[in-house]
Amino acid sequence: MRSIMKSSVAFVSFLFTTSTIASDQQPFQFEAMAAPSHTLPALPYAYDALEPHISAQIMELHHSKHHQTYVTNLNAAMKTQAEAVHTSDIPTQVSLQAAIKFNAGGHINHSLFWQNLAPASSPEAKPSSAPSLVSQIKSTWGDEAAFREAFKAALLGIQGSGWGWLVKVETGAEQRLAIVTTKDQDPVVGKGEVPIFGVDMWEHAYYLQYLNGKAAYVENIWNVINWKTAEERFLGTRADVFKLLKTSI
Ligand SMILES: [Fe+2]
Repeated sequence: MRSIMKSSVAFVSFLFTTSTIASDQQPFQFEAMAAPSHTLPALPYAYDALEPHISAQIMELHHSKHHQTYVTNLNAAMKTQAEAVHTSDIPTQVSLQAAIKFNAGGHINHSLFWQNLAPASSPEAKPSSAPSLVSQIKSTWGDEAAFREAFKAALLGIQGSGWGWLVKVETGAEQRLAIVTTKDQDPVVGKGEVPIFGVDMWEHAYYLQYLNGKAAYVENIWNVINWKTAEERFLGTRADVFKLLKTSI
C-alpha cells in the first residue's frame, strides 16, 4: 500500500509541478491534466469457461459488476483528486486517499486474478506449465502438496474479506517465495514483491455457488490456476506483472 501512496504522491507532485509551469506560461488546461481513465479489462476466456469450478453466474457478476465498480469509483476518485490538486485543496486530496487505495487495489487485484485463472482442461492449468516455479515451490515447502496445504491454511485463516497470494520476494540478488494474505482490497505492491497468483477470498467470489463451503472453493480453485501465467510472473519482473494495468487506461 505504501507504493500506492508513493505513486499518488508522485502523481500529485507531477501535477503540482506541471500546473505551476503551465500557470507561469499559459492558461492551465485542466482537460489535458485530468487523471487517466481506467477501463475494465476483458476476460481472457468466456464467463462459463471455468465451470464447474467457478460458475458462469459468479464470473459474470464478479467481472462485469464488482470489478467494474472498482474501476468506476477509482476513476471518480482520481478525477476529484486531479481537481483538488489543481485548486491546491489539500484536505480533499487527503480525504480521497482511502477511496483511491481501496478502488485501485480492487482494480489491481482483479486484473491480476483474471489472468491467473484458466479453464481446467487447458494446458495452462497444469503445474507442468511452470517448471521453474514448481521447482522453487518444492525447494521451499518440500513438495507441491505441502505448499497447497500451507496456501489453503492461509486462505482459510483470513478473517472477513481479503486475498491470498503466492509472492516472489526479491531482496537484492536474492529471491524467495512467500504466501501472503491481505485485507479487503489491499494489493501486493511493496518494493521487491512480485505477485505470482492470487485467490479472491471475498464472499462475492464463491458464495453463490459454494454458500458457506469456503474450503471447497479453496480446494477447487487449484483446478483453474493458470500455471503458465504464474511461471511468466515468477521469471519476470515486478514491472512486467503490472504492465497489464496500463493496457486498461
Ligand atoms: Fe472480487
